[in-house]
Amino acid sequence: MVTPSEDGPAFPADGVGGEVPGPVDWADCYRSGQTPWDLGGAHPELSRRLSGGSLAPPRDGARALVPGAGRGHDALALARRGWTVVALDLVGLVGGDLGAALARLGGRFVEGDALDFEDEPFDLIWDHTFFCAIDPADRGPWGARAGELLLPGGLYAALVFPFGKPESEGGPPHGMSSADLLRVLGTRAEAIEDVEVQRKAPARRWAERFLLARRRGPDLASPA
Ligand SMILES: C[S@@+](CC[C@H](N)C(=O)[O-])C[C@H]1O[C@@H](n2cnc3c(N)ncnc32)[C@H](O)[C@@H]1O
Repeated sequence: MVTPSEDGPAFPADGVGGEVPGPVDWADCYRSGQTPWDLGGAHPELSRRLSGGSLAPPRDGARALVPGAGRGHDALALARRGWTVVALDLVGLVGGDLGAALARLGGRFVEGDALDFEDEPFDLIWDHTFFCAIDPADRGPWGARAGELLLPGGLYAALVFPFGKPESEGGPPHGMSSADLLRVLGTRAEAIEDVEVQRKAPARRWAERFLLARRRGPDLASPA
């Protein structure tokens, strides 16, 4: 397990991705163990919300998608709370044990690109350092895809990070705000909560917020 640190040599300061010019070879990050974004457990805010009973599955068999799931700590936390979880990541090698662990809880790991991922629609998308990891040019397409991947009434829950990081500093992690995410979800979704997290991840330079948005009914889903 990699302990997140502001002093990590390869990805300094941000605790999630650092200043890597150009496209990131995510597989190489995992192969070389340079994964400072990895908290070694579920995000504390997700754990807090799950143990407090919010973000509970709305019914038996409710399905959650975790794009950019990494080693799957959040995915497993959701699965242990009763969600049927699909953990999705470009990098398959992180999915070996994760796939088996999720399968025991009724879920699965999928190796693939979230930008063209298709499946039955989900009740929940949990996004923790996925939106900030993709190229900002892919945010619009992801917003459209996410809208398709959510059931009407389904929730997009996001750990908004790195909040307040200027665009000029580049990424990943690329700076993001709740408004950035809501913009690409467009009229398909409405914000129902947008707050500072109560339990921050340790050793992260930038602020974290929690955003909960609900997918509107099909009559209102009109991509911009
Ligand atoms: C910063 S890491 C976060 C991992 C995990 N959410 C966590 O908090 O530990 C971003 C993850 O997104 C994955 N990723 C990047 N682009 C992706 C894409 N287009 N589709 C699926 N996964 C992607 C990377 O392989 C990486 O595991």
